[in-house]
Amino acid sequence: MNLPIAFIDEANKLVFESSKDQVRAWELGIFYLKVPSWLDLKAARCFGQEILKADSPYRDIPQYGDLEGFISLENNQQTKLALRRHRWDEHYPTEITQFGRQLDDIGVAVIREVFRQSGIPEELWTEASGGYSSGQGTAFLNFVHYDTAHPDLGLRPHTDYGFVTILDATSPGLQIELEGQFCDVPVLDGHLVINFGEALNFITQHSNRSVAAIVHRVTSQTSSNPVRHGIVYFANPDLDGALKQFDVQGREVGSSSVGDLFTLLEQKLTNYK
Ligand SMILES: [Fe+2]
Repeated sequence: MNLPIAFIDEANKLVFESSKDQVRAWELGIFYLKVPSWLDLKAARCFGQEILKADSPYRDIPQYGDLEGFISLENNQQTKLALRRHRWDEHYPTEITQFGRQLDDIGVAVIREVFRQSGIPEELWTEASGGYSSGQGTAFLNFVHYDTAHPDLGLRPHTDYGFVTILDATSPGLQIELEGQFCDVPVLDGHLVINFGEALNFITQHSNRSVAAIVHRVTSQTSSNPVRHGIVYFANPDLDGALKQFDVQGREVGSSSVGDLFTLLEQKLTNYK
């Protein structure tokens, strides 16, 4: 599976090698991003491996609701440390918080390029994205590994609910659904994988260029595989916010509370189980 490749230029703009690649990325809903030279991925990967150790203090971070803290998921192999942006300073070392803020910059560059292509007038981008495109909204920075003691799928098929997901995975396992078939997304050295989510699909639906939210999963990891580590960043709308659909004339043609959209997606997800 050859995904299109993009990079972030000096003006912090998302750029593809050709417009054909960019169109394909929007249609598929997924692409590779060359790791920017200013991103210290190595330190973040080391941190992700440290937190696994039995004596790691990070294992004691409490759970905040269903989505944050040190969590073992029951319906797949993921064990993760997941935190929203406002808790990074409290729990993550300084360099990891800085790493998260650099992923914020990448997330904003991606969403701004999606808006640019969409034709939605720039003065509406902040409102349409519940603030994310100008540095607000919700961001998660999660460190994940796959517990092979459970004979389950690594991660069950789903679409992401938010705007943009940034992934660094150390081993294969990610698959995307294309025409009813799951295809491998190989680990490409020096590159992150970026995919779009449902909220971004929703807000671009009445524009010139909408983006797809691709169905993906992670294959079952076994003890003979190297331990699969992932760093996952989610750019999301605030859960208590709203999403607006604008057309290229700047008319509001639809809207949804984030809660209602996510409830709808949850119902769709249960159909995969
Ligand atoms: Fe996902």
